[in-house]
Amino acid sequence: MSIDNEILKCIRERRSNRRFTEAQIAPEQLDALLDAAIWAPSGGNNQSWLFTAVQKREALLQLNEIVREAFQRWTPDDDYPGKLTIGERAKKAGFSFYHNAPTLIIASNRPNYENAMADCALALQNIFLAARSLGLGSCYINQLHWLRDDPGVREYLFGLGVPKEHTICAAAAVGFAGAAAPAPARKKGTINIIR
Ligand SMILES: Cc1cc2nc3c(=O)[nH]c(=O)nc-3n(C[C@H](O)[C@H](O)[C@H](O)COP(=O)(O)O)c2cc1C
Repeated sequence: MSIDNEILKCIRERRSNRRFTEAQIAPEQLDALLDAAIWAPSGGNNQSWLFTAVQKREALLQLNEIVREAFQRWTPDDDYPGKLTIGERAKKAGFSFYHNAPTLIIASNRPNYENAMADCALALQNIFLAARSLGLGSCYINQLHWLRDDPGVREYLFGLGVPKEHTICAAAAVGFAGAAAPAPARKKGTINIIR
């Protein structure tokens, strides 16, 4: 590659980390991640998102149990491989939908807003890149989106301050990486240039 700089390197070197140490990230690091999130672009400059950062271990463990139970009675709404296997995975000891990360940032947004997912996804990528730049690991977490209409999950999230009417778009697991994540090869033929 002929052009390179720190941001391009950070983009290339960011990985989805699924192993974290128990150490919590510093308050300033969390502030930096959330600041990166709110500087993302949003459709029509809506900024109608809410980022709920959960660091309380007991809350994360309680949420995990609610999610674990919800998945055991959940019917996948399409044939996405991760959805087809989650019911069985949720039965296993040690199941953690957020990979036992010390921090989980939940991105929710106004309902019936067509850019809700796009806005939150862009903000999450800012979080992932900011995390990488601070020496932290991170991972996109989809399970709360899959369970966005589950009454038990919604009730618990409401208790954490996520508005009942909000749609849950996604979440980011963040912490210190406990192991290096391998870089999945990039598929060929996904770029088309017309000059
Ligand atoms: C929309 C989306 C949903 C994802 N959901 C999950 C998830 O629920 N759990 C997880 O561990 N990784 C999840 N990932 C991470 C992908 O598995 C990961 O980005 C992919 O394997 C490529 O690896 P890389 O991020 O290290 O390049 C998700 C990524 C995206 C973009």
